[in-house]
Amino acid sequence: MRSPDSIPSTPHHPAPRVIAVASGKGGVGKTSVSINLAAALVNAGQRTLLLDTDLGLANVDVMLGLSPRFTLADVFAGRCELRDTVLEGPNGLMIVPAASGKRHMTELTPQQHVGLVHAFSELDLPIDTMVVDNAAGLADGVLTFCQAAQEVVVVVCDEPASVTDAYALIKVLSRERGVARVQVLANQVQHPVEGKQLFDKLERVTSRFLDVTLNYLGAIPRDEWLRRAVQRQESVVDAFPSSPSALAFRDIGRRSRQWQSPAAPRGHVEFFIERLIGTPANSPTRSAAA
Ligand SMILES: Nc1ncnc2c1ncn2[C@@H]1O[C@H](COP(=O)(O)OP(=O)(O)OP(=O)(O)O)[C@@H](O)[C@H]1O
Ligand SMILES: [Mg+2]
Repeated sequence: MRSPDSIPSTPHHPAPRVIAVASGKGGVGKTSVSINLAAALVNAGQRTLLLDTDLGLANVDVMLGLSPRFTLADVFAGRCELRDTVLEGPNGLMIVPAASGKRHMTELTPQQHVGLVHAFSELDLPIDTMVVDNAAGLADGVLTFCQAAQEVVVVVCDEPASVTDAYALIKVLSRERGVARVQVLANQVQHPVEGKQLFDKLERVTSRFLDVTLNYLGAIPRDEWLRRAVQRQESVVDAFPSSPSALAFRDIGRRSRQWQSPAAPRGHVEFFIERLIGTPANSPTRSAAA
C-alpha cells in the first residue's frame, strides 16, 4: 500500500458525484454495498473515494484489511488533516476511514461538524465519485450526509424491520431534508423477484404518503462468495469477479454511472461541504443551499 503522500493531487478538479449509502436498519449490507459499488466504479475507470462516516463501528478499513495511520476521529480531534487519512486501497480506490469504537456521529458537536466540513474543502484530490458509507439509523449525521449527496441509495433486505426502517428513513429525508429522489437497492435476496417485491412494497407506502420518487436500482443476491470475500478482507468484486454478487455490483455500478449528472456546481466536494455548512445541525428543513 502506498502512503497517502504518494496520492497525486491536482487543484481544481471537476465536480465529483456524491452517493450516500444508508438503510435505517443496521446490518442489511450498507458497508458491503459501499465497498463493492466503489470497487466496481474503480474497475470501470472511475476515480473513486470511499468515505466511512460510521464512527461507531469502523467497517470499511476492517473489511478491506487496511491499517489506517489516521482516521476521521483524528481529524475531529485536530490531530491531522483529512488528507492525512486518505488510504490507497485496491486498484487505486481512495479511502477515508472512520475509527473503531470511537464516538458516534450523533455525538459530534456542531464545531466538529464544521471541522469535518473544512477538512473536506481542503481535500483536493482527483475524484469522479465519492461513495459515503453511513451508520445505521436516523442520526443527524446520517441525514446530513444524505441531504448533501446527489444520490441516496437506501439498502433494504427481506425483513419486516428493514422495510419499515427504510420507510422511516425515506420519510425523514423527504419531509425534513428535502430529498426528492431515492435509489432503492435490495440486498441478500434469494431470488431476483424478491428484490422487486420489496421495492414495490416500499413504493406503495411512499407514493401514498410522501412526496419522493423511488427508483429501483436492483438486487444483490445473498451470496456465499461475498462472505468469503469478507473473510479475505477484500471486495467480492475483486476477489471473486464472476460470482453472482460481483456481477450484480458491476451492473449497479454501470447503472449508477448513467444517473443524470447534477447541474453544476451541485456535487462538487466543496459544494457538498457548503451544503453541510449551510445547514444548521438540527435544521428541520433543507437549507437554501439545497
Ligand atoms: N449479499 C450478501 N450476501 C451474503 N452476505 C452478505 C451480503 N450482504 C451483506 N452480507 C453480510 O452481512 C453482514 C452485514 O453486512 P454489512 O456490514 O455490510 O452491513 P451494514 O448495513 O453495513 O451493517 P451496520 O449497520 O452494522 O453498519 C456482513 O457480515 C456481510 O458479510
Ligand atoms: Mg456498516
